[in-house]
Amino acid sequence: MGSEVTESSVASAEAPKAAGAALAAVPRHVAIIMDGNGRWAKRRFLPRIEGHRNGAKSVRMVVEECRRLGIRYLTLFAFSTENWRRPQDEVGGLMSLFVQHLESELGLLLKNGIRLRAMGDTSRLPASVREMLARNEERTKDMTGMDLILAVSYGGRDELVQAARKLAEAARAGEVDPAAISGESFARHLYLPDVPDPDLMIRTSDETRISNFLLWQLAYAEIVVSPVLWPDFSRDEFHRCLNVFAGRNRRFGLTQEQVHGA
Ligand code: FPP
Repeated sequence: MGSEVTESSVASAEAPKAAGAALAAVPRHVAIIMDGNGRWAKRRFLPRIEGHRNGAKSVRMVVEECRRLGIRYLTLFAFSTENWRRPQDEVGGLMSLFVQHLESELGLLLKNGIRLRAMGDTSRLPASVREMLARNEERTKDMTGMDLILAVSYGGRDELVQAARKLAEAARAGEVDPAAISGESFARHLYLPDVPDPDLMIRTSDETRISNFLLWQLAYAEIVVSPVLWPDFSRDEFHRCLNVFAGRNRRFGLTQEQVHGA
């Protein structure tokens, strides 16, 4: 994901009516921290994996809704570098869930013109997940309707460290002048340099942390916190978050007058 930040990154769109109101501005890129699966399950005296399983239904809803609304990029935080330290049965259950969903949702991706992309240290994933990700990435690589980016085994600090390492190696090889390194040239070494930065980051379950998600790319994102646990995240609640975003005044460090040309 690159560091480009412009006002035009938010397209005005005649969005379909939902929750009783039309959306005024549709973000180009939405990123989501899907939080609260464990609490959802605990409240129902169910194993945590049931929360994740029900969370997968919300994943399908947001993917379909983003496509319908013309949101061009959707990044979902599916598994963090920190999540590897969770109990083995939960990690294993999540990996099986990823395989099942990648298997079952390929048709939906193809039907809707959606390209699947993974970002993160995928070398740590079990072969079954890596193979299924690679299969879906390959099968959907020519889709141009929307990019669905799954952050799996992803950590923002890891991403920055690997970018720094690549640049340091290029400098040592004499290919890069350290004095010439800029924000733009740095961003070209992130995992997905062609993807524009998120305009909106939603986190569910009332948590207000960034939790090592897209540390570079969220620099100018609007953050909207939803009180809803991820498995209960509905179309209406998603629209409410989009409407909160539409009502925000994005200035990118400039004055109101500069942004609006007044
Ligand atoms: C955070 O909730 C959620 C995760 C670590 C996993 C997200 C995974 C899914 C929604 C499963 C389906 C995903 C795909 C892409 C098919 P938590 O467990 O931290 O919740 P808690 O804070 O209530 O414990």
